Order: sequence, then structure tokens, then C-alpha cells
Amino acid sequence: MKIKSARFIMSAPEWQKCPKPTIPEYAFVGRSNVGKSSLINMITEKRDMAKTSGTPGKTQLINHFLINEEWYLVDLPGYGFAKVTKTIRENFDNLMKGYIANRDNLMCVFVLVDSRLEPQKNDLDFINWLGDNGVPLAIIFTKADKQKPQHTAANIDVFKSVLLQYWEEMPTYFVTSAEKKQGADEVLDFIEEANKRFGKFIV
Ligand code: GTP
Ligand code: MG
Repeated sequence: MKIKSARFIMSAPEWQKCPKPTIPEYAFVGRSNVGKSSLINMITEKRDMAKTSGTPGKTQLINHFLINEEWYLVDLPGYGFAKVTKTIRENFDNLMKGYIANRDNLMCVFVLVDSRLEPQKNDLDFINWLGDNGVPLAIIFTKADKQKPQHTAANIDVFKSVLLQYWEEMPTYFVTSAEKKQGADEVLDFIEEANKRFGKFIV
């Protein structure tokens, strides 16, 4: 898929205030600093569409971007900040639960995982939570340029083996680098395919 247009639509504090679910939607989520803004900017070919927030974790908004006048890209708040208050964590949980449970046009949640790290508990918890709730998901390993390809591959193998303790198969995954512009085409092709299925399950 080629990006013809990409523009910010709105930020919503809760799913009820999101745009009408008339077109397919794809959400991006991950731990703070995983490279989410960089990835979104890479796949939309805009230098600063998804701005890096000054104070991570503070503003928890659901950000909608309209791509090719055809589908929504959604930038969700990050999780797993080292020190957030209980209130912020509960807000995140409520926001996410409401969004996931009610967003009828949500085709896939892309969970971003830092390719350099060993499996992190909060990533695994989040992925398992999506799975338990029947939400279609794909994993995006980020920052692959920061190490040798074989190192990335080894880390993904470890991640797989941990996930396979809970899952029957490894979800679809992508290896990306915003720095080297790697992986954008694959993610966009996946979205293009999924877009074709939209409408088949919405009444
Ligand atoms: P918050 O919104 O602050 O939670 O972070 P984020 O997940 O949006 O991450 P962001 O895109 O702001 O990137 C965090 C840091 O990682 C920045 O310094 C980026 O330049 C760097 N970074 C992101 N992606 C890549 C990548 O693919 N390769 C390299 N080398 N650095 C990256
Ligand atoms: Mg960001």
C-alpha cells in the first residue's frame, strides 16, 4: 500500500468520543520509549505526525489519524512506565478495556516490542490479555538496527518460546527499524489485506 495522505483527526479521552467506526482501524501500543512515535512516522512517511510526548504517561489519549481517506491509524497510550501512580495505571486499564471491548471497527492491535530486550512481563501480560479477549493482534519488534540481525533473530526466538507457553502459535510479527526505514512495507501490506475484510463482520 502506498501512503497518499495521512492526517491527524482528533484525540479522545475515551472510546465514546472516538470518530464514528465507519472505516477499518488499527491501533499501535507498547511500552513507553519502545519507538511507537518513530514507527508511526515511518509508516505514514511523515516526520512528526505522532509527536513525542513531553511527559510520558501523563496524558492518556486515543489519537486518530486518517490514512488514504480509507482507514484509521490509532496511537494508544503507552504502558509500563517505571513510576506512575496507581490512578494513572487504573486510567490506562479502563481506557484500554473500554476501547478494546467497544471499538467495532478495530481490525488489529499492533503491539510494539523492543527487539533488544528479553521478554518483558508487561508486554507478555498485555499480549495475553488481548488474546484472552479475542482481539486480533500482531507484534512489531522495533529498533532492529541497534544490533546485529542474528541478535534480533535470537531475541525473537526467545520471545516466541515464551509466548508459545500460552499460545498455540506465534502471532504474526514484523521486524522494523524506524532508523533504517525497515519493515514499513510489510506492515502496510498486512493492513491492506485486512482492509479487504472490513465490512464482512460489521452490520
Ligand atoms: P514515548 O511516546 O515517549 O513513550 O516513546 P515512543 O514509544 O513514542 O518512542 P519514540 O519513537 O519517541 O522513540 C524513543 C527513542 O528511541 C528516541 O530516541 C528514538 O529516536 C529512538 N528510536 C525509535 N525507533 C528507533 C529505531 O528504529 N532505531 C533506533 N536506532 N532508534 C530508535
Ligand atoms: Mg511517542
